[in-house]
Amino acid sequence: MPEFETHEHDVLVIGAGGAGLRAAIEASAAGVSVGVVTKSLLGKAHTVMAEGGIAAAMANVDDRDNWKVHFADTMRGGQYLNNPRMAQLHAQEAPARVKELEAWGALFDRTSDGRILQRNFGGHKYPRLAHVGDRTGLEMIRTLQDHGIHRGIDVHMECTIITLLKDGERVAGAFGYDRERGRFKLFHAKAVVLATGGIGRAYQITSNSWEYTGDGHSLAFHAGADLLDMEFVQFHPTGMVWPPSVRGVLVTEAVRGEGGVLLNKDGRRFLFDDIPPLYKNQTADNPEEGWRYTQGDKDARRPPELLTRDHVARCIVREIREGRGSPHGGIFLDISWIKEKLPNSAEHIKRKLPSMYHQFKQLADIDITKEPMEIGPTTHYMMGGVRVDGDTQMSSVPGLFAAGECAAGLHGANRLGGNSLSDLLVFGKRAGENAARFAKEHGATQINSAEAQAAARRAVEPFERASGEGPYQVQSDLQTMMQTHVGIVRREEELQKALEEIAKLRARAGQASVGGNREYNPGWHTALDLENLLTVSEAIARSALDRKESRGAHFRDDFPSKDEAFAKANTLVRKGLDGAMQVTRVPAQEMPAELKQIIEEMK
Ligand code: FUM
Repeated sequence: MPEFETHEHDVLVIGAGGAGLRAAIEASAAGVSVGVVTKSLLGKAHTVMAEGGIAAAMANVDDRDNWKVHFADTMRGGQYLNNPRMAQLHAQEAPARVKELEAWGALFDRTSDGRILQRNFGGHKYPRLAHVGDRTGLEMIRTLQDHGIHRGIDVHMECTIITLLKDGERVAGAFGYDRERGRFKLFHAKAVVLATGGIGRAYQITSNSWEYTGDGHSLAFHAGADLLDMEFVQFHPTGMVWPPSVRGVLVTEAVRGEGGVLLNKDGRRFLFDDIPPLYKNQTADNPEEGWRYTQGDKDARRPPELLTRDHVARCIVREIREGRGSPHGGIFLDISWIKEKLPNSAEHIKRKLPSMYHQFKQLADIDITKEPMEIGPTTHYMMGGVRVDGDTQMSSVPGLFAAGECAAGLHGANRLGGNSLSDLLVFGKRAGENAARFAKEHGATQINSAEAQAAARRAVEPFERASGEGPYQVQSDLQTMMQTHVGIVRREEELQKALEEIAKLRARAGQASVGGNREYNPGWHTALDLENLLTVSEAIARSALDRKESRGAHFRDDFPSKDEAFAKANTLVRKGLDGAMQVTRVPAQEMPAELKQIIEEMK
């Protein structure tokens, strides 16, 4: 392929967050050559936004914890739409992955007897999140990055992949461009691991930064892989709401894990109004007991602030809509109240939540040790993604693997906080191991040069359109539309409207023009991101329309209850032969008898 700069790797990993780095480390340890492509700089990944900890049943703080309880919590949180095999492997393997990370140099907060400290988080029965203050994701990335670099992995930074290349049915590599100079790059590989993270930038209010435009989801879809459960988008209950420039920035669940309470404008803990039946026996009905729970009292019941994220986010939205919100359209999160309980509360808060302290002080001029924060839901995480085999992480396209947020299965209808970091470690490792095995067992692939040339031609089209609006307006209109019509609360008419709007936006994107040349051109980058954003937005809207019930993170105002007809079905999205998006339902993975028994025992 003389016209393109070409790189050869046995395994190509696309994405350098926790899942991508862990996959790359494992593939490299298996003795194959590995390349990692990242759209951003190494070390900058949404992984750092999982601040509160890594969920792993290590039982360091409560010796009643074990993998079975973690498995049952994860399945219940996901409303039993999870792939049970993945939930089992995740719960069984997470403790070993955390210890391995520690052996590679990760720092953790400690119990008084020197073990890794674990904190409470929503939906987890016992304190389970191994953490370092509220910077756990950052520590994970730092550790994996150091370890990966020392293994000699090739890293291609600031490089965006625009299409996957195939050899017959099998994946053969990827084609993209370097963002700095705009030069095309061709990656020839025997196996490819997608680890591109989420889709947050399809929405207006999000904790995700600019990179998260659903690239892996869209690349896989266009390469013929199946997507699953795209209706399940997680709105984290607590993002910043003020000032406007930082709206959506994450406020870690660890604030609630450390005793923070949610209040409406009247100072009332409104979550006590609406405890779901499933949690009635586990949830404290008085604030004193909830506080004791966050402080590690084994006999106390959890505070309602630690119910699952889908429920807490919906209660917040209700409170705001009914006029009991804060001045800037959120509600209040207060950790400063613990001064009633602890004489040294300010030092305690700064030690447990150092990033939150600085974030609010510097961005909003709020001292969280003295006053409440204003917060509201923010688009945080995608439960849906590439359908993969639970053991190997291979998709329906031979040689194409996916791990982390861009893969579906582990979290079902709603993810528990902290289960993302453990997911990245457990399934990143599995994806890397199996991609390396695949590369060893299968011969080299052939690149079809016409495919790469066609992708290059399409990519420069925005420069060739003399007139046409700029891509930013199309992106911004898409984000506003998704926030309005496909947000936390959904309805048939709104979802239909969203699909009509997506068709119009697609036509506009097809006409968008950019000026200048390919060097340092963010307008061009945005124009190329639109295809991915539109693909995932359509998949979310179509899947949400199909699921005529409310379950987990998917809430339909017109179908507010769960429906048995959907209880054992995952939503499948596939590209039809005519190129159109098709949505069908497939039976959820059957749970083996021994796992069913665990669920029964845990009830
Ligand atoms: O709130 C948080 O720290 C986020 C954690 C997660 O999404 O797992």
